[in-house]
Amino acid sequence: MEQLQPCILVIFGATGDLTRRKLYPALYNLYRDNLLPQDFAVLSIGRREKREQQAHEDLIDSIKRYSRIEFTDNQADHQFLERFHYYQLDFYDSHAYAGLKTYLEELDQKYHTLGNRVFFLAVAPEHFAPITLEIKQHQMAPNLDSWQRVVIEKPFGRDLTSARQLNKVIRQTFAEQNIYRIDHYLGKEMVQNLMVLRFANTLFEPLWNNKYIDHVQITFAETVGVGTRGPYYEQSGALRDMVQNHMLQLLSLIAMEPPVDLETESIRDEKVKVLRSLKVDPENVIRGQYGPGVVNGEQVVAYRQEVRVNPNSQVETFVALKAEVENFRWAGVPFYLRTGKRMPEKYSEIVIHFKKLPGVLYFKDNKLEPNILIISVQPDEGIFLRFNAKRPGTEQTIVPVSMDFCHSSIEGFNSPEAYERLLYDVIRGESTLFTRWDEVEYSWRFVDQIAKDWDVNNPPTYIYPAGSNGPSEADFLLRMASREWLSRR
Ligand code: BG6
Repeated sequence: MEQLQPCILVIFGATGDLTRRKLYPALYNLYRDNLLPQDFAVLSIGRREKREQQAHEDLIDSIKRYSRIEFTDNQADHQFLERFHYYQLDFYDSHAYAGLKTYLEELDQKYHTLGNRVFFLAVAPEHFAPITLEIKQHQMAPNLDSWQRVVIEKPFGRDLTSARQLNKVIRQTFAEQNIYRIDHYLGKEMVQNLMVLRFANTLFEPLWNNKYIDHVQITFAETVGVGTRGPYYEQSGALRDMVQNHMLQLLSLIAMEPPVDLETESIRDEKVKVLRSLKVDPENVIRGQYGPGVVNGEQVVAYRQEVRVNPNSQVETFVALKAEVENFRWAGVPFYLRTGKRMPEKYSEIVIHFKKLPGVLYFKDNKLEPNILIISVQPDEGIFLRFNAKRPGTEQTIVPVSMDFCHSSIEGFNSPEAYERLLYDVIRGESTLFTRWDEVEYSWRFVDQIAKDWDVNNPPTYIYPAGSNGPSEADFLLRMASREWLSRR
């Protein structure tokens, strides 16, 4: 097992949702799996006054609610708790950071962490720039004999211009190689498996191009609505919330060329080339918004009735689009992307739809079913392959059959949560699963084209009933080319 260097994890945003639901449980699971450094401590920073005991109770509560591995409350668990500290800080009180610096130095002494730090900004995006500037101002990230890294959550800007501004400010404190821009989809087990699937199987790689693939579909469907995140969502919508980051990241992994090696920068170089080649005609983008309806047997309200949402909002909770990767490998192969909230089921799938063989021998009427490969990212991690075979018997009947490999049903296998993998990687300085600045830049270029078209031409936002698969216009996008959305479900 890799020997990890000592460090302190400094979490800004101790009381936030992300910390409670994801970071605390992930840390606990890493601890239980023996994947934290020997010399390690956590400093949670929040604006509220809290006693350390209260902070520990919150931590235990979050582990009990959300952790993959059960809290056992034994001596080892208490040793884990002892490494947790809480610090109250007003992010905008510049003087207060001097106290934080001193406290961090004390913790360094206590835990022998040598000044190595991971600053995790689990706060609202408007705080990213001010906090990093204070870190610089108070020399908490000198990067001399020790290392300091920063983890930034999404959204990284609201468009290319604001993303550039944000990046400029963060770069004043941290060098690019120390900036870890999180896209939690990259931490998902099946997403990490994509490169292996493509580049470790003779079965797939030779066919992975426009000669054999008809089109690709990526669907991220969710059952949840916007919940309490109305104000954020009004500014972002599904295009910025899901397409700019998670969907384009997956698309780039599916479409990239084989990297020269498995080094972080080699992989990122190939991903960025895909993003640079990506084209979309705004005519091929459909936006939708959920109306009232029934999801999982429960009546739910329309987006416009959600808390702190404009009752006349045009903001999209659903996007479907057709894009093309204009390069030699993919020219002429549409990539259909679809994501929405309040859909009937939560799942994320990638469908590779192969071309049909000529109907010369079988099915002269062109009814031979094409091969289909479905990569299921969640809730089950698996791979499904549909191919043709003869039905047993004397008649020459060809039927589609399938091979289904399900990761999550391997006995005793319990996939780590995305945040476990991502936190582990930041601590060991491995940044492949994080997005480099130019990836962010090209993703925004792509999304900005669509957003600009929406601003200028104001195309309709189609209302779809909650609990449905989105507006029928999204189906039409495929039907125009005699295709349809597919799912393993
Ligand atoms: C987040 C979005 O990045 O991803 C949310 O902001 C969305 O709106 C979430 O619900 C989906 O993530 P997952 O892992 O639940 O598919």
